[in-house]
Amino acid sequence: MKGVILAGGLGSRLYPLTKVTNKHLLPVYDRPMIYYPIQTLVKAGVKEVMLVTGGNSAGEFLRLLGNGKKIGLDHIHYAYQDGEGGIAAALGLAEHFADGDKIVVVLGDNIIEDDIGPSVRRFQKQPQGARILLKKVPDPQRFGVAAFKGKKITGIEEKPVKPKSSYAVTGFYMYDGRVFDIVRTLKPSRRNELEITDVNNHYLRRGLLEYDMLKGYWTDAGTFESLFRASTLIARKKARQKS
Ligand code: DAU
Repeated sequence: MKGVILAGGLGSRLYPLTKVTNKHLLPVYDRPMIYYPIQTLVKAGVKEVMLVTGGNSAGEFLRLLGNGKKIGLDHIHYAYQDGEGGIAAALGLAEHFADGDKIVVVLGDNIIEDDIGPSVRRFQKQPQGARILLKKVPDPQRFGVAAFKGKKITGIEEKPVKPKSSYAVTGFYMYDGRVFDIVRTLKPSRRNELEITDVNNHYLRRGLLEYDMLKGYWTDAGTFESLFRASTLIARKKARQKS
């Protein structure tokens, strides 16, 4: 399967750190942030990847990653997102790359412990639709949040003031080739972005959204607190591996 890593946006929640550089080039412990989602894909056997970026320092990704071989990729393709039209808008730029195939989409600021390989393989067997990864969190109002009836997802709300569960939709999404038709139907949200939550709800309404639960740690790294947390999680993991 092909992978799409979304690393656009302006990272305004991390100003002034992101005033002169792209958020995904900032350090998370001993590596640039963007290494982590790439390594998650490589570990899952996804080695043909498109990186969508934009804004500050877009050219630096080429300097850092080159042809992707040193970090385990077979091929890396690059796309440039103008402005900050939202996650779904960034995804829309990967249509030609996907070329009708199923894809795994990863947000460039998401860091996890789990191997997503088993989920990717389950999605490969899924005849159509989408698959998302959920994680129980203490602060669901910061994320897309799933509501349930029993084990069935009944809806996903983006950053709800009163979350209906503690299960955040993480930044790992798997879609069939129809996702780009769905992106074309989206209207900008209140924050003037095309929302990935609207894409997921679209699949849900058609009964085509499956999910898996993450077991290990998961964090984004888009705020000062979560960036710090991400570095701490990686530092602790490295210390555990050494001892
Ligand atoms: O981290 C998981 C959460 O990510 C989900 O639970 C939410 O449903 C989803 O909307 C998203 O929430 P955020 O508001 O935290 O997303 P953020 O704007 O920080 O963007 C996350 C990544 O997506 C960012 O690191 C790069 C990429 N992105 C974002 C925007 C707005 C783009 O490539 N282009 C964009 O225009």
